[in-house]
Amino acid sequence: MTERTFSILKPDATRRNITGKINAVIEEAGLRIVAQRRVHLTDAQAKKFYEVHAERPFYGELVAQMTAEPVVVQVLEAEGAVAKYREVMGATNPDNAAEGTIRKLFALSIGENSVHGSDSLENAGIEIAQFFKDEDIVG
Ligand code: TYD
Repeated sequence: MTERTFSILKPDATRRNITGKINAVIEEAGLRIVAQRRVHLTDAQAKKFYEVHAERPFYGELVAQMTAEPVVVQVLEAEGAVAKYREVMGATNPDNAAEGTIRKLFALSIGENSVHGSDSLENAGIEIAQFFKDEDIVG
C-alpha cells in the first residue's frame, strides 16, 4: 500500500550542508519526496513534537538541539513508506546502525543523529499535519 511518512533532516545535517547527500540516500531507496520545507523550529514546536519523551532525561538536550539551527521537514511517499524509511534511517544510536543507513553514514551521536522518521502510520499522519497542509503535498 502506498503510504506517506514524515521526515526531519535535523540541525546537524543542515549545519554540515549535507541535506542533499541525505536526500540522495532517501531517493535511492525508492522514497519520493512529495513535500519539503526548511524551517527553524520554535521551542514550542520542538517540545510538542517530542512530547512523548517529556519525562526522559535527554528531553531538554533534544529540544535544545532541534531548535539550535534550521531543519528540513519532509513528506516521503512509497509502498510501506513508514517501515521503509525506518530501515533506511538505521538505529537511533549510530553505533548500532547497519551499513549503508543514513545514521551509519552521517550521524554524529545518538542525539545528533541526522534524521527523524515516524514510527507508525498513525504517528506519520499526526506529524505530517503538524507541518503541512494537504495542498502542499504533491504526490
Ligand atoms: P526515539 O524516538 O527513541 O528514536 P528515533 O529517532 O530512532 O525514533 O528518540 C527520539 C530522539 O531522541 C532520537 O532520535 C535522539 C534522541 N535521543 C537521545 O538523545 N538519547 C537517547 O538515549 C534516546 C533514546 C533518544
